[in-house]
Amino acid sequence: MAKINLTVNGKKTTGDVEARVLLANFLRDELKLTGTHVGCDTSQCGACTVHVDGRAIKSCTMLAVQADGADVVTIEGLAKNGKLHPAQAAFTECHALQCGFCTPGIS
Ligand code: FES
Repeated sequence: MAKINLTVNGKKTTGDVEARVLLANFLRDELKLTGTHVGCDTSQCGACTVHVDGRAIKSCTMLAVQADGADVVTIEGLAKNGKLHPAQAAFTECHALQCGFCTPGIS
């Protein structure tokens, strides 16, 4: 097990994770941030996309231990003060949804 310290959606957090745990699974299973979805598990769909230090990454391709010290933003952290992020607002205004499963990774 490895201890990791990171900031997720503006909150400092820690975790004890096995080296093989993917960031997507850490976010969903340990932090209960289930807006990050795992669609394909083969790095193709993008449903698992989150921001790590300001860059969009597929969290199914990154180990949680690699995020040690990072600033992570998930779909749960995009809206501020009850106001949708401009990308979220555009999705709503343009009805840019299909089934919605991958939408958190696109926004
Ligand atoms: S789950 Fe499809 S790219 Fe990560």
